[in-house]
Amino acid sequence: MSDPTRAQRASSFGSRAAAYARHRPDYPRQAIEWGLSGAAATPRRVLDLGAGTGKLTLGLAGLGLDVTAVEPDPEMRAELARAVPSATALAGQAERIPLPDADVDAVFVGQAFHWFDVPAAMTEIARVLRPGGVLVPMWNYEDESVPWVAEFTRLGRDGARRPASTDDLRQSAHAEFEPFESDRFHHTHRRTAESLLETIATYSMVIVSSPAESAALLTRLREFLASNPETAEGEFDLPLITLALRARRR
Ligand SMILES: C[S@@+](CC[C@H](N)C(=O)[O-])C[C@H]1O[C@@H](n2cnc3c(N)ncnc32)[C@H](O)[C@@H]1O
Repeated sequence: MSDPTRAQRASSFGSRAAAYARHRPDYPRQAIEWGLSGAAATPRRVLDLGAGTGKLTLGLAGLGLDVTAVEPDPEMRAELARAVPSATALAGQAERIPLPDADVDAVFVGQAFHWFDVPAAMTEIARVLRPGGVLVPMWNYEDESVPWVAEFTRLGRDGARRPASTDDLRQSAHAEFEPFESDRFHHTHRRTAESLLETIATYSMVIVSSPAESAALLTRLREFLASNPETAEGEFDLPLITLALRARRR
């Protein structure tokens, strides 16, 4: 985390916590179940790491699992406590997890693994995971196989949006883990043009940019959505792909 922009982006979300809770998508149940099935025994106690406002926590709790959520930002944690009161929400970081050794059967990470110091985080995750347990990072991406979505994301990308590619992260090897496997799951996020712009405004790249830069970006995207037949009026389904990784702890 030596690059100040990267550190700034990683810690930027709290200033938009309520909008994040309202406008970011959740995760498909099939992706969560695929992750859980990577463990040697059926997981019961799971950790959601970098849990934010609880988008993934809610999916895990909905499967009847005993969920602990660890999140460094107090404003994100406050939203999480409101959204998923059944989960135990703790302050903490991936590189220093406030749990004892061999405490959980699975560690899930939604849209946050790329913000971690990955080698240090994998060592710490291995410490809290029981042998045979599973680490499951996942990300939601716009499905760029759909032409209008490809054009929209191209217009919105505006330089480096993602701090690390998931292909690179998939190669993250660690002595305590089997190699990562991956799978992809289709789902959708019901949006209007305005609510999609609200979603974009919760991206770290937009949060840390100057007011003039983010206004210019949102204007460019608003003009595109107004001119595009699929998004010009009313509600539409934004096609998403959830990319999930899983690696079993040795
Ligand atoms: C894009 S949000 C994802 C939140 C949530 N998991 C979700 O899927 O919506 C990234 C989250 O990672 C957290 N984060 C950033 N660096 C972290 C670290 N080193 N350890 C744990 N969490 C971190 C941020 O505070 C933020 O809440």
